Amino acid sequence: MNILITGGAGYIGSHVLKALLERAADKITVIDNFYSGSQDALVALESVGKFDFIKCDLADTAHLKEIFASHKFDAIIHFAAYIEVFESMQNPLKYYLNNTANTANLINLAVEFGVEKFIFSSTAATYGEPKDGVVCENSPQNPINPYGTSKLMSEQILKDAAAANSKFKYGILRYFNVAGASSDSLIGQNYPNATHLIKVATQTITGKRANMSIFGRDYDTKDGTCIRDYIHIEDLASAHLAVLDYLNSNDSDIFNVGYGHGFSVLEVINTAKKISGVDFEVIDAPRRLGDPAVLIADSSKLRNLTSWKPKKDNLKTIIASALAWEKKI
Ligand code: UFG
Repeated sequence: MNILITGGAGYIGSHVLKALLERAADKITVIDNFYSGSQDALVALESVGKFDFIKCDLADTAHLKEIFASHKFDAIIHFAAYIEVFESMQNPLKYYLNNTANTANLINLAVEFGVEKFIFSSTAATYGEPKDGVVCENSPQNPINPYGTSKLMSEQILKDAAAANSKFKYGILRYFNVAGASSDSLIGQNYPNATHLIKVATQTITGKRANMSIFGRDYDTKDGTCIRDYIHIEDLASAHLAVLDYLNSNDSDIFNVGYGHGFSVLEVINTAKKISGVDFEVIDAPRRLGDPAVLIADSSKLRNLTSWKPKKDNLKTIIASALAWEKKI
């Protein structure tokens, strides 16, 4: 297949690029504007396989059109997006313009140029604060921040585009809490301002932060801290390949991507301390706005319908890979 990856220099995009290069079955073009993507990741991945890179901003429609006109893409895997929940509440238009308007534009080009498959990075944030902590793909979607809404709107645009164009199929992947780095420590999360729990913990272990906070210990959970479904980045990456293959002989569909069980913030922190042998300082802080108490994927659809076989469903493995990477950078 001739595949376009948008945001291929980013955290998730670069791991999917690596997985595709390892299977060596496709011709790949990556675009990225390096807003949060890393040039180093692309350089590192040159040792894995061959791909073309074009620096391009999704807002540059003329440039995008040129790229579509000069390649005959069979599939697009669309990662490029803004991902900070808190920032989306302060600057919603930034999120709607990039995550929704630019995505609509990309979908429009995909349809115009006859691209048949579109894999979209969506998020558990589209579910908002579910009543039951375990969500399946048809659970109600009531996002509570513009980030989640911007992704939900793109999901709708994809559904409408596919309904109106019989040759255009989508695979929507709703990610849960992605963490860790590649097992060979070749690539990982490069974004220094990341706010994610496991990244922050490894930054604290390695002394890049003096301490870290627990945002709320008064939730209605076993130890009072929030519970999330942490998934290893390599298992998340392989889900994209499985869904891409699934679309060869199936219709458009939506998949939760998580393991189906969760860990509390305290469990993550205690595991990080145990693995590293570093008893880092942890401060009790107030709840963070918009954090649901429990968010766990029912991922049985992905497991049952596609060839996806998770291999790293182990909190220690996830944290150890994140830590090995953090020590390297
Ligand atoms: N947390 C802390 N301290 C920190 C960082 C996080 O206590 O320093 C807590 C949060 O309050 C939350 C849990 O750890 O309870 C996980 O927080 P993350 O920031 O790691 O992840 P989120 O669950 O907030 O966000 C993730 C994705 C988002 C997506 C969301 C869907 O990163 O992109 O899941 O719920 F929108």
